[in-house]
Amino acid sequence: MVHSWRSHGEKIGFVPTMGNLHSGHLALVTEAKRRAQRVVVSIFVNPLQFGAGEDFEDYPRTLDADKQQLLEAGVDLLFAPTPEVVYPAGQAQQTRVEVPEISDVLCGASRPGHFVGVATVVCKLFNMVQPDLAVFGEKDFQQLMVIRRMVEDLCLPVDILGLKTVREEDGLAKSSRNGYLNEEQRQIAPQLFRIMQQTAQALAGGQRDFTRVESEAREKLLAAGFQPDYYVIRNADDLALPAEADPRLVILAAAHLGTTRLIDNLLVE
Ligand code: PAF
Repeated sequence: MVHSWRSHGEKIGFVPTMGNLHSGHLALVTEAKRRAQRVVVSIFVNPLQFGAGEDFEDYPRTLDADKQQLLEAGVDLLFAPTPEVVYPAGQAQQTRVEVPEISDVLCGASRPGHFVGVATVVCKLFNMVQPDLAVFGEKDFQQLMVIRRMVEDLCLPVDILGLKTVREEDGLAKSSRNGYLNEEQRQIAPQLFRIMQQTAQALAGGQRDFTRVESEAREKLLAAGFQPDYYVIRNADDLALPAEADPRLVILAAAHLGTTRLIDNLLVE
């Protein structure tokens, strides 16, 4: 089908997802539709990117509701493979794609093997779907960076587009994992973004004592009821430690509320 579209000169846009779609995903679809004549969405909860003891089993699977939303959004094709289709020889036998260094820090340090799982599945999905372009959310800032690097290093003929994080009215970044939060945690959750906004304001105002700003923010997170995993300011182009003169910085955070791990980021340019 994709081959026939392409032979008619149509551009193929692709949105890879793990399903449980929300308006953040639909914004990716809208962007893909703006850029391409045909849009393919994949839904695959990728076991390779979950570590032992993570939420692979519990990850919300809502295929019927997702299908309905994609139909209404005018998506041309849904690709929802089973693990046997993606990993026919089993996960252990699967050739892997590893993007060194940036995969090992932050979320990669907290979730060893996570970005190998992401890079491997995205590479496979690109080869299966053969899109001209693919759209990802900037909420997963490090993931987007890993994917861009993989595409460049492996000369994959896919344009990668990043789309601004879609937020709830109170600032909480949209995420399928928000559904794990109980009422009390849901009230607390937006404070993550508020604290990041305060850090961004301090940086915009010329504050360059990064270590101090980071540790103040971590204390605020703890006081609000989070268990911070990391809260850092980095160079937005390569995730290196920030230098005073860096023109593009990014605040990256991951924090637990109960058993739910939330991530977010904020660019300061
Ligand atoms: O961001 C996600 O939903 C997943 O990590 C992705 C890119 C679909 C790969 O499984």
